[in-house]
Amino acid sequence: MTNRPDLPPEIARRRTFAIISHPDAGKTTLTEKFLLFGGAIQMAGQVRAKGEARRTRSDFMQMEKDRGISVSASAMSFDFKNFRFNLVDTPGHSDFSEDTYRTLTAVDAAVMVIDGAKGVESQTRKLFEVCRLRDLPILTFCNKMDRESRDTFEIIDEIQENLAIDVTPASWPIGVGRDFIGCYDLLHDRLELIDKADRNKVADSIRLDGLDDPRMADHIPADLLEKLREEVEMARELLPALNPQSVLEGHMTPIWFGSAINSFGVRELMEGIGEYGPEPQVQKASPRDIAPEEPKVAGFVFKVQANMDPKHRDRVAFVRLASGHFERGMKLTHVRSKKVMAISSPVLFLAADRELAEEAWAGDIIGIPNHGQLRIGDTLTEGEAIRATGIPSFAPELLQQVRAGDPMKAKHLEKALMQFAEEGAAKVFKPMIGSGFIVGVVGALQFEVLASRIEMEYGLPVNFSPSQFTSARWVAGDKAAVEKFVNVNKQHIATDNDDDLVYLTRLQWDIDRIGRDYPDVKLTATKEMM
Ligand code: G4P
Repeated sequence: MTNRPDLPPEIARRRTFAIISHPDAGKTTLTEKFLLFGGAIQMAGQVRAKGEARRTRSDFMQMEKDRGISVSASAMSFDFKNFRFNLVDTPGHSDFSEDTYRTLTAVDAAVMVIDGAKGVESQTRKLFEVCRLRDLPILTFCNKMDRESRDTFEIIDEIQENLAIDVTPASWPIGVGRDFIGCYDLLHDRLELIDKADRNKVADSIRLDGLDDPRMADHIPADLLEKLREEVEMARELLPALNPQSVLEGHMTPIWFGSAINSFGVRELMEGIGEYGPEPQVQKASPRDIAPEEPKVAGFVFKVQANMDPKHRDRVAFVRLASGHFERGMKLTHVRSKKVMAISSPVLFLAADRELAEEAWAGDIIGIPNHGQLRIGDTLTEGEAIRATGIPSFAPELLQQVRAGDPMKAKHLEKALMQFAEEGAAKVFKPMIGSGFIVGVVGALQFEVLASRIEMEYGLPVNFSPSQFTSARWVAGDKAAVEKFVNVNKQHIATDNDDDLVYLTRLQWDIDRIGRDYPDVKLTATKEMM
C-alpha cells in the first residue's frame, strides 16, 4: 500500500490532497461524494451551496457568514479503507488568489476534475501550472460522463497536449450521455456499472477475466461492447501504461471517467488516490528539510482565517504537520518569535464539525486558535530553529486606495486592514509620503469581498478608489544602495504590513529602468513569507 514501508504506518496511510478544477466542473459534488464514501456525511446534499449564485459576491459573503463547508472547512479529514484522507479545500470563488497557491503548498497531490464536455478550461490550466511548479502528483477525474461529452481519445489528447503531461487511462467509459452505462476498470479488470436510480449508492462491480470474458455480453449491449474492445485495444497500444513512479514525480496522470452526481467512478478514484497518491512528503525548509518520519513535530501555517466567530475575534491558523506525532497540549516553539506555545485546543476538521484534535500525524492539517501570533509562513517545532520555505507572497496585480468613510475611524481601518493582510486576504501598503493606505489584491472580486468584510466585521464603511499606481515590487539588495534608491524615490515607496519596503509604480518601464540604474537594488514580484 505504500512506497515507503519505512514510514510509521500512521503516516504512511495519510493522503493529503486538494481538488483543482474550473468552476462548475463538479468539485463540490465530488467533495460531497468523497465525504459520503468516507462516512463523514450520511447523505448527499449537505455540502452544497446552491446554484449559479454561489459565485456572486453576495453569496460568497453569505457563505462566509454561514461558514458553509465549502468556504470554512479549509481541511476535511475522513477515512477510506485503510487510508486517512485530508482534503484541503481550495477557495470557492473563481478569482485566482494567493490563498489558492498556498493551499497547494500544504498538500502532497491534487485531483484535477474536468468536465467531459469542456475539457481543460482556463482555471484548471492555471492551477495545474501551480501544481507543476512543485511537481505535485496529479490524478484526473473526467466528470459528467452521463452528459454528452467528447470522445475519450480526444479528452486524453487534449490533456496531454495542453498540459504537457502523460495521460494513462485508469478506466474507460462505456457509451456516452444517455447511453453511458459505466466504465471498464483497466487497472483491476472490473466492470463498473452505473446505478442512476440511487445517486448515493454505487452499483456492485463485476469482476471479470479481462475484456474477452464472455460474461461481458450479459451486461453490455453488443454495439457498445464491440466499441469498448476496439477502443481499449487502441488505448493500450497508443497510450502509455500506468507507471506509478512517473505519477509520483508528476510526469504522468492516471485518468478516471465518471459522474460525480451519480456517485459513479468516485470510489475507483478514491482507491486510486490511496494506491497511487503519495504519502506525506519531505517539506522544504531552512537550514534543512523536514522528513515526515522524524519523531519530533514540525509544522507550518499555510492559511489564517480570522473572525470565524465575530463575537470572539478569534483566528484559526491552519497548520500542515510536516513531521512527527502531535498530541494535544504539546508545547511547540513558534520559530519566528522564539516563544513557546502550548497547543491546548487544536482542532481537526471532520466534515461539518470541528473537533478537538487529541492527536495528529505528519500530513494532517490542524487548526490552532490564536490571537494573532500565528501568521502565514510561520513554523512551529519542538525547539529547533527551522523554517519551512516555499510559501511565497505575490505582488498584487490590482491596487486601490482605501479610506474610511468616517475620517475619525482611520485607526480602526488600519487595524482591520492589518488583520486582513495577516490573513493573506490582501496586501496593505502604507506610502512613505501622504496618508491613507493602498490595498493590493490579485483578483478584482477581492476588493468587494474586503469592503464587505470590513463593514461586517468591524462596522466600518470604506471607500476604495483608483490608485495612481498599478504595480508593486518588493525592494531588496545591498543596504546602502537600497537607502539611496529609497531617498531618491520617496513618492514611490511604501512599507507593507511586515514593514518591508515596496516600490509602487504605474509603469513597467520604471521597473526596467531601475534594473539598469540601480544594479545593486532588486525589485521582486514575490517574497518568501517568514
Ligand atoms: P463546482 O464546485 O466545480 O463549481 O461544481 P459543482 O459540484 O457545484 O457542479 C456544478 C454543476 O454541475 C451542478 O449543477 C452539479 O449538479 C452539476 N454536476 C456535477 N457533477 C455532475 C455529473 O456528474 N453529471 C451531471 N450531469 N451534472 C453534474 P447546477 O445545476 O449548477 O447546480 P444544482 O442546481 O445541481 O445545485
